Amino acid sequence: MGNIVANKNGVLYLLLHLLLLCFLVVGEFDLSGLNYTKFIRQASRLRLERIQKHLEKINKPPLITIQSPDGDIIDCVHKRKQPALDHPLLKNHKIQKVPPEMPKRLIQEEVRNSMSNEATIKGTPRQWQWQMWHSNGTRCPKGTVPIRRSSVHDVLRAKSLFHFGKKQRGFINPARRRADAPDIVSGNGHEHAIAYTGTTQEFYGARATINVWDPSIEEVKEFSLSQIWILSGSFDGSDLNSIEAGWQVSPELYGDNRPRLFTYWTTDSYEATGCYNLLCAGFVQTNSRIAIGASISPVSQYTANQYDITILIWKDPKLGNWWMGLGDNTLIGYWPAELFTHLADRATMVEWGGEVVNSRANGQHTSTQMGSGHFPEDGFGKSSYFRNLEVVDADNSLSSVRGISTLAENTNCYNIRSSYNKEWGTFFYYGGPGNNPRCS
Ligand SMILES: *[C@@H]1O[C@H](CO)[C@@H](O)[C@H](O)[C@H]1NC(C)=O
Ligand SMILES: *[C@@H]1O[C@H](CO)[C@@H](O)[C@H](O)[C@H]1NC(C)=O
Repeated sequence: MGNIVANKNGVLYLLLHLLLLCFLVVGEFDLSGLNYTKFIRQASRLRLERIQKHLEKINKPPLITIQSPDGDIIDCVHKRKQPALDHPLLKNHKIQKVPPEMPKRLIQEEVRNSMSNEATIKGTPRQWQWQMWHSNGTRCPKGTVPIRRSSVHDVLRAKSLFHFGKKQRGFINPARRRADAPDIVSGNGHEHAIAYTGTTQEFYGARATINVWDPSIEEVKEFSLSQIWILSGSFDGSDLNSIEAGWQVSPELYGDNRPRLFTYWTTDSYEATGCYNLLCAGFVQTNSRIAIGASISPVSQYTANQYDITILIWKDPKLGNWWMGLGDNTLIGYWPAELFTHLADRATMVEWGGEVVNSRANGQHTSTQMGSGHFPEDGFGKSSYFRNLEVVDADNSLSSVRGISTLAENTNCYNIRSSYNKEWGTFFYYGGPGNNPRCS
């Protein structure tokens, strides 16, 4: 009897490895125009086993599984089984269904917004757009949350298992940079075009509507993202707390060039804590329709239809959790207060904008695009925008942010131009093509 079991396991083991091999062989084909071959390498069996073990930890057993046309596998996982609850500080965490309080809108803001909703915002469709996996037709059952399953390939593309799902340090302190520019260059080839608030205020959240594009990426290791940062702590030390959300194109993380909804958090300046999406324990998802890390569809087209997503992040004043909302009133989930140090109290800075990695692959600036790949001067339908930039104050009230500053390290590569009008409140166009005669 014991022998038969052993043999069965042996056969299973063999099958599993054959399957894995198929995976790896399939992976050699260049699906997106990018060369992934070097990341497949000869991954040693030991490495593959370690990766498998890690995946078993983060890929939770699903009730059902949904195949997306973009290749993603979406697992519907019971919400009590989601990765967040593996966090040692969240052992006895009671999952919140809804935040006790939504941010209040200032009266005049409400009037302004209801007015702007009457008019179609320059051809922007107002209905909530779908994620690509929704076209499967199957929904996640009640009580479950949709989670994008990580594959062996996803991990193999990362520098190491430790680096999988983590963002490399590459932030800038705008205030500091302004004071002693141009000495401070953001590390690791990270380049930004951002708007930011002053550092002397207190913030309890932020909101913006972000134009969605599919910028092209030259190298697998590079990315292009457009997001909100909620920050507290010091930029120079190792205690920076950051909560981030937006859309990103990251061939390394997802294996393709599609823009995807993402979240990020860290409490130690991107060192050991935190990760993208649900790739580590932390973010508690409450929504059963939106998968974090899933691709957004459709995306904006040059001088044609424009699509945008509205992201709101705010601190629930009662329990201190940082919630994330999408669109007008769709709750996605929250970062529990327990995760944070500085952000347990409040944020001291908010940033909005784009970030890319320029690896200088062939000794020159790569042609990885930010935003739409077009400069701010080109305006609507051509350049990417953030509109209706708002912040949440200590009263849990949302209001249009005033007095923002902007920053771009190399305006010949990527730039930003902010403005204000009644319809869009505080807004900006940002981005650029990367490599061009003035950026090389
Ligand atoms: C991809 O990269 C590998 C290793 O760097 C190289 O050997 C191979 O020729 C490349 N393939 C293509 C299609 O460029
Ligand atoms: C939806 O997902 C299921 C389960 O993965 C799969 O069997 C089915 O073929 C998918 N349907 C479509 C229309 O893609």
